[in-house]
Amino acid sequence: MSAEQIAASLAQQGFCITPDFVDNRTLTTLAAEAEQRWTQQEFRTARIGTGTHLHTAAAIRGDAILWLDHGALTAAQAVYAAQLEQLRQTLNGTLFLGAFDLELHFARYPAGAYYSKHLDRHAGTQARLVSCILYLNQGWQSGDGGELRIYTAGDDSASYADITPHGGTLVTFLSGDFYHEVLPARRPRLSITGWMRARNQHYLP
Ligand code: OGA
Ligand code: MN
Repeated sequence: MSAEQIAASLAQQGFCITPDFVDNRTLTTLAAEAEQRWTQQEFRTARIGTGTHLHTAAAIRGDAILWLDHGALTAAQAVYAAQLEQLRQTLNGTLFLGAFDLELHFARYPAGAYYSKHLDRHAGTQARLVSCILYLNQGWQSGDGGELRIYTAGDDSASYADITPHGGTLVTFLSGDFYHEVLPARRPRLSITGWMRARNQHYLP
């Protein structure tokens, strides 16, 4: 699926599912890098909120994250970042998105972890424009859980799409428009989650 096709899908329905967004070698390298840095205990428990309201809340989200350092990307991370950069430019050109930069982190859900229904846009901010999630899991089975559930009509629980976190699949959606949650995973679940962000939209307390 080309960047133009992703842009068309975002314009039409606000979200897009793109299987095989990265090549297999990049995918397996990214997964190995995430596993290695997890083993080196570089991940930390994810928190919720912003600024002084930042706190850990395993009852809401049970994943651990590691931010990517854009000044020191590995070759595989640079391949993925360049693809998202191309997508960002296409979205800016076709949707007048005004996305200025990209933030990316690895996320790892241990078995049993989930992330309750939420919006990616923090209260009082509009910085996050497009959410981008690339799954790094090999051989994910339907019984493994961990689906991303996107609510397609507000937070009305009657209408949703469930997305299996197959390795190589990229999910993109407009950050301010879609409530979503991660259903409990039954085996460790890896991804790179990121956001295309607007300029000068930082949190003002
Ligand atoms: C998030 C999130 C979804 C997923 O990190 O904010 O909603 O499928 N992740 O990992
Ligand atoms: Mn989210």
